[in-house]
Amino acid sequence: MEQSNPSNIRVLPNLLVNKIAAGEVIERPASVVKELLENAVDAGAKRIDVAVEDGGKKLIQVTDDGVGMSKENVALAFAQHATSKLNDEEDLFAIRTMGFRGEALASIASVSRSKIVSRTAQGQGGYEVSMDGGKQSEVKPTAAPVGTTVGVRELFFNVPARRKFLRSTTTEMAHITEQLTRVALAYSNIHFTLSHGGRKSLELPVSQNLQGRVAELFGEELAQTLIEANSNERGVKIKALLAPPGMSKTSGKWQYFFLNGRYIRDRVLSHALRETYRGLMEPSRFPVAFVYLEMAPEVVDVNVHPTKIEVRFRDSHTVHSQVLGTLRETFLKSDLVGKMHIEQNRPTYEQEHRVRQAVADYIKSQPVSQERLNYGQKGRSGYSSRPGQIKQNGEKLREELNELFLRTRSSENVNKSGTGCGSLRETPANTQDIYRKRNNRRNGYSRSTCPA
Ligand SMILES: Nc1ncnc2c1ncn2[C@@H]1O[C@H](COP(=O)(O)OP(=O)(O)OP(=O)(O)O)[C@@H](O)[C@H]1O
Ligand SMILES: [Mg+2]
Repeated sequence: MEQSNPSNIRVLPNLLVNKIAAGEVIERPASVVKELLENAVDAGAKRIDVAVEDGGKKLIQVTDDGVGMSKENVALAFAQHATSKLNDEEDLFAIRTMGFRGEALASIASVSRSKIVSRTAQGQGGYEVSMDGGKQSEVKPTAAPVGTTVGVRELFFNVPARRKFLRSTTTEMAHITEQLTRVALAYSNIHFTLSHGGRKSLELPVSQNLQGRVAELFGEELAQTLIEANSNERGVKIKALLAPPGMSKTSGKWQYFFLNGRYIRDRVLSHALRETYRGLMEPSRFPVAFVYLEMAPEVVDVNVHPTKIEVRFRDSHTVHSQVLGTLRETFLKSDLVGKMHIEQNRPTYEQEHRVRQAVADYIKSQPVSQERLNYGQKGRSGYSSRPGQIKQNGEKLREELNELFLRTRSSENVNKSGTGCGSLRETPANTQDIYRKRNNRRNGYSRSTCPA
């Protein structure tokens, strides 16, 4: 095979450049949904409708009622490095919009068949333009309401290696729902809908406050237990909604952090949250929390990750101490015992029945589970999906038992002593105690918070 000569440098054609960029940013249909949602938010939309077919593999369409685009902008929107959000280099260090690189639409269009229809409030009519695997059509006038619709068909039709990695419709749909959830949690003032194959799966009308949006997405029961924390000091404005420790989960999936309206993942913030709950729940559990930060855009770099999910704080130490301080103080002041009362009312017959049922299902599944727990390989008996089911039952059982355990435990503690120091090591009912004892301890953390 002929080796390419490393000294022959070539400038890559635009389409290839866009495909390379798409490789980093567009991993699956949910990535497209994220980018289109962010564009709609930046356009000042009050309502955003997302319609997908076949988990987004066949079609993703996002319609907004934002400012729309003029004919000239429609013509430029798919172009590489074309953005209305940056003017000069200085802007890059003070980003106030979700997008700024001017590459999302170009990347998406290079690996799909895409179309934009848009109209501004000033325009007499709308305009449309299509891109088919990187080839752009003429801009044509068309009838359209004010706002923008972007349709993306057959994602990765020209990148078979990528298409092969797409998962089942259900899995892709779960990713899409999660992306929409993240944006919807940051913008409770926007009405969102999501439909799949013509059927509406989410309808999120404008909500008065964040609790309302949480209730729409996760249920009234969780929203009602949330404890609110607020502070605005040292250049960091914090608003957090914290679930009581008894509502903990088996993974960190229910922890949402936002910076200036952008969902982010950040080790410093996760650590501060974990510290807040330390000693209030089993170490293997994860708290449920929604934490919103606002800071001057100049003190945080959002241009450090291809999908912008990570940021770099200029002073992460201050961010950490502000978050930890605010959340801790709120816990100390809040009536966690009262909050626990809401949850700890004796388990209902239905809950007990569910636990019993889960135990029975789990036990029944045991003898077969061992021989079939070979993931990835088709079992001898051909039950390739069975282990997943069994695992799910086990996980459900653990969730149920843990919930029941925490309920019973906290009601026992509250009823007996009111201090939380019963036979159990730690209880969410005595936050002050735990913090006090933890602070008093010189040699770090010991799991026992009660006198022997
Ligand atoms: N829904 C929309 N409404 C109005 N204008 C839009 C919309 N979507 C895209 N645009 C225009 O098209 C431009 C290109 O969009 P694109 O997503 O490619 O880049 P960006 O949002 O500027 O930056 P990034 O690549 O970081 O997302 C935007 O800057 C904006 O001017
Ligand atoms: Mg964008």
